Amino acid sequence: MLEESLKRYQQRINLQLASRIDALADIEPNLKAAMKHGALIGGKRIRPFLVYAIGDMLGVKLATLDSCAAAIECIHAYSLIHDDLPAMDDDALRRGQPTVHIAFNEATAILAGDALQALAFEIISDPIEDITPSQNLSLVKALANASGYSGMCGGQAMDLNATDKQIELATLIQLHKLKTGALIRCAVEFAIIAAKVDQQERQALLNFADAIGLAFQVQDDVLDIIASTEELGKPQGSDTDSNKSTYPKLLGLEGAQKTAESLIEDALSALAKLPYNSQLIAEFARYIIERRV
Ligand code: IPE
Ligand code: IPE
Ligand code: MG
Ligand code: MG
Ligand code: MG
Repeated sequence: MLEESLKRYQQRINLQLASRIDALADIEPNLKAAMKHGALIGGKRIRPFLVYAIGDMLGVKLATLDSCAAAIECIHAYSLIHDDLPAMDDDALRRGQPTVHIAFNEATAILAGDALQALAFEIISDPIEDITPSQNLSLVKALANASGYSGMCGGQAMDLNATDKQIELATLIQLHKLKTGALIRCAVEFAIIAAKVDQQERQALLNFADAIGLAFQVQDDVLDIIASTEELGKPQGSDTDSNKSTYPKLLGLEGAQKTAESLIEDALSALAKLPYNSQLIAEFARYIIERRV
């Protein structure tokens, strides 16, 4: 069931993203090509999956969720383009392709990231079917919070600061929750905003999101060690080579894997509190720590 749904939502988001980027005027085809390189080639699309699958579980129409899924994936694509830059992780391979600054150049990669970020806010602030102006504003604010200083950017800064250093586990948890968890939580928040759920359900869904968000980055750290470059489509051992602060570095490989498993147990307990058929989402939670890519 999961595999088929992942594929279906991947196809849906790919069409959305392609049409949004293609619709941009051809004032600078090279920049547009770099945006396409960073946003359209490959990617698991797990954030759009969460928007669609949780939104659908809560009774929201897929057409209403398209803008949310596209906006969040534009932010994610931008974050990866910048993450790979020489000033950040300095990686040359992403999704089995040369990274944007290698395929184009550094300045174009910076601008492609910037333009994808702006496009995300353009998409999420446009009128959306079945969404009131007040809900629309909540979506914009949720995306801004998750992307900026209090979210992904803050986490990325903490990550750079924690390089070549010994840090406390509490600091690593906060770093991971911000750099990766915030955007994953935002995907779930989007579905919540679109569906207008009650406070108790909202809390259970956000607890679920926080647990899988942290587990996702723990598994990303684990895969840097146990998966091959071919499987990952990005350079194996990049974290080790750069002396990054990661879960395996602090807790050992087994400690990191145990943490990821226990986070998924937490996520499944939060899910069990909800009065919906959450079988697909539960399968997805397990996939987060079973994946090899
Ligand atoms: C990689 O994200 C960076 C992290 C936040 C861990 P993904 O693993 O979702 O990357 P793609 O989009 O599938 O390539
Ligand atoms: C990146 O974390 C998180 C963001 C892009 C916000 P990583 O640096 O671990 O991601 P990968 O391993 O390069 O995909
Ligand atoms: Mg990084
Ligand atoms: Mg990186
Ligand atoms: Mg990583």
